Amino acid sequence: MNRKQLYDICMEKLKISGNEDFEFDALCIFQDILRDKYPLFRSAEEVGAECEKTIRDLTERRCEGYPLQYLLGEWEFYGYPFRLNENVLIPRPDTETLIENVLEICRRQGMKSPKIADLCSGSGCIAITLKKELTLAEVHAVELSEGAVDIIKENAALNGAEINIVNADVLKRETAEMFRNMDIIVSNPPYVTAKEMAELQREVRYEPEMALYGGEDGLDFYRAMTSLWKTSLADEGWLLYEYGDGQHSDVEKILTDNNFKNITLTRDLAGIYRTASAQNRR
Ligand SMILES: C[S@@+](CC[C@H](N)C(=O)[O-])C[C@H]1O[C@@H](n2cnc3c(N)ncnc32)[C@H](O)[C@@H]1O
Repeated sequence: MNRKQLYDICMEKLKISGNEDFEFDALCIFQDILRDKYPLFRSAEEVGAECEKTIRDLTERRCEGYPLQYLLGEWEFYGYPFRLNENVLIPRPDTETLIENVLEICRRQGMKSPKIADLCSGSGCIAITLKKELTLAEVHAVELSEGAVDIIKENAALNGAEINIVNADVLKRETAEMFRNMDIIVSNPPYVTAKEMAELQREVRYEPEMALYGGEDGLDFYRAMTSLWKTSLADEGWLLYEYGDGQHSDVEKILTDNNFKNITLTRDLAGIYRTASAQNRR
């Protein structure tokens, strides 16, 4: 069977399964398995039996709702490659807003070699991207899941980023006490509410629960981390959070209640309030 014939079969299967991105997903699977960025340029080329079987298997898995990013095992975030598996949240484009916020603060404040801690690091996408963009920064990634820590190590090596990876619970005082005088603390913690957990999209159900669930109202991590980690920040240091749709006022109030100043809420590319940045005041 040639590439075009197999592509049409896979695309049709994906379409019937209700996948709106069927063309894109089929193309990504072909690119990955045939190791060819433009697999349809040589559409009459025969596909070997082994590749055909793998392509058909991946298509089947995708039709069942298994996330494309886990199927491929690698995805781009802020232009950098990140290896992924079911131990880590799939990096979202929304989180690039958080990266932009940190870079903007560093530019504005003239910080050339800031000390940065990324809490709840997951795949390491935030910590590693910041180290790539701010090469003189001292960057720490803190993550509780051992499976995720293995992925952060892999991604740091893949991107040639020298960061300090700490396997610890961000909700424990002793973890926060390991860090002092941070210029920037950034976090995209679990923020899905109990109600939302019951209604998760099919794809999201494959992602680790501990990366998603943020307590009854989704705000447990913001409440605990804001007071716990305040003393890990330098005077006038910055705390930045990503949060879920509709949580901006609650997160803003938590920051105000903890005596932070210069609170700025930023919308993501879809126009939804997505991040908060705030400055420490002692
Ligand atoms: C929403 S994911 C964010 C991952 C990554 N920062 C990103 O933006 O894609 C939250 C991460 O927090 C981790 N986590 C959950 N509870 C934690 C805790 N108590 N201490 C440290 N990390 C925790 C999860 O394992 C998960 O990797």
